Amino acid sequence: MRIIEVVDYRDEWNDLFLKEKKLLEDHLNLEGLQIHHIGSTSVRGLKAKPIIDILIEVNRVKDADAQAAVFEELGYEVKNEYGIPGRRFYMKGGDQRTHHIHLFDHTHQLDIDRHLAVRDYLRCHQEACDQYAEVKMKAAEKCHNDNDVYCDLKNDFVKELEKTALDWYQDKKLSHIFNRRSVKKYRNEPVPKEMIDKIIQAGLYAPSSMNRQSAIIVALTNKEMRDQVAQMNAAVMKAKIDPFYGAPAVLIVLADKNNPCRVNDGSLVMANMMQAAADLGLGSCWIHRAKEVFETEEGKQLLKQWGIEEEVEGIANCIIGFPDLIPYAAPRKENRVYIVE
Ligand SMILES: Cc1cc2nc3c(=O)[nH]c(=O)nc-3n(C[C@H](O)[C@H](O)[C@H](O)COP(=O)(O)O)c2cc1C
Repeated sequence: MRIIEVVDYRDEWNDLFLKEKKLLEDHLNLEGLQIHHIGSTSVRGLKAKPIIDILIEVNRVKDADAQAAVFEELGYEVKNEYGIPGRRFYMKGGDQRTHHIHLFDHTHQLDIDRHLAVRDYLRCHQEACDQYAEVKMKAAEKCHNDNDVYCDLKNDFVKELEKTALDWYQDKKLSHIFNRRSVKKYRNEPVPKEMIDKIIQAGLYAPSSMNRQSAIIVALTNKEMRDQVAQMNAAVMKAKIDPFYGAPAVLIVLADKNNPCRVNDGSLVMANMMQAAADLGLGSCWIHRAKEVFETEEGKQLLKQWGIEEEVEGIANCIIGFPDLIPYAAPRKENRVYIVE
């Protein structure tokens, strides 16, 4: 018979998780494999049933089905969805249960987030941990070793906890979008090449019309060249300023002139790159007039010099650098949303 016991937190739970993670990584061959410690044993200090709960993210659940035998070899019972659509559930230890695996792919991102949210919320909120520990102790006392009764007794608390935690987690997850700003003052510091590469990759993964991927990116980090393009940009405005605000790197986005969606596609590349820069702790800003700059003879010469033979239109310049000042967001204008239900 399975004994339902809730015990004090044990340091060994973290080690047991790490050991199992290594075992799973060594034996499973699954694209996009990510293994997380979840559940109460993953929250330092929390009382828990001594079972290591593991969340596995993969690119496709079907691939995991094809490896059911591997899970079995590692001592797991394969339980398929086991009550949660889209999940694959595996358990180890029989009546002396030691491990649970909950496996999802990204078509069920909300389930992945729900688990990670509860863990992270509990890790950050001592009061919620204390309340949860008490609910669990009482449920364990009253359930007479019946796991269904144990779960029922803590169900209301867990549902509420999940709601609060998910809300907190989603706000945190989206905060990078709210925190990106157009930076117009930079420190005089070069941006490491690896960071530029990551930003460019983010740009290349933008959606594009009919998946044409026709937008191209020119990365200018050479000061002389960057200054030349800055001057050309200022000349369009007939101004004598640095329109790149001293930013050391400029990613110029251009797109195929014959693509009717060139501006849309190029703009999405820009959006991805500006967001990626913010995520990496860098500043960025959309600087306009790329179209006019590359319509000049000097602009056409530069394209040639850079090896760009196709007919392209300048979409925008994404300036990048370490921010010296991050402005506040302007208040959002009202009445811009119409909800039709
Ligand atoms: C299409 C477009 C063109 C822009 N052109 C310039 C520009 O030439 N120079 C500039 O300083 N900022 C430019 N910006 C940045 C805007 O000033 C900035 O996005 C706006 O003030 C909102 O600030 P935020 O991005 O921090 O929310 C441009 C932004 C867009 C979307």
